[in-house]
Amino acid sequence: TTSFPRFTREEVARHHNEANRVWVTYGNDVFDVTNFLELHPGGKSKILLAAGGALEPFWALYAMHKQDHVQEILQEYKIGEL
Ligand code: HEM
Repeated sequence: TTSFPRFTREEVARHHNEANRVWVTYGNDVFDVTNFLELHPGGKSKILLAAGGALEPFWALYAMHKQDHVQEILQEYKIGEL
């Protein structure tokens, strides 16, 4: 099993724009999605709304993310755990 580094929510929150890189959380997992911004079918600006925090409140509104293929994409960007 792969072991990931641990981050606090405070540390994640510092990564809220492209200059500082864009991190988000989902459950206890931490992702650096900076390199996905330009690839997002919903546009860069939508991901920036969640930058530095949790995806859950946004994905509750945009249910198209509750698909296996979206989870697979997200997992590619995992960098750590809370
Ligand atoms: C669509 C991934 C964050 C809003 C999609 C799709 C993917 C994706 C793969 C296409 C789904 C499909 O049609 O099968 C991601 C990932 C995110 C993320 C990996 C993590 C950073 C967000 C956030 C929002 C959002 C935070 C809103 C604030 C949307 C919208 C679409 C979409 C509106 C539909 C675009 C369209 O079909 O016109 N996303 N998303 N996404 N996403 Fe995201």
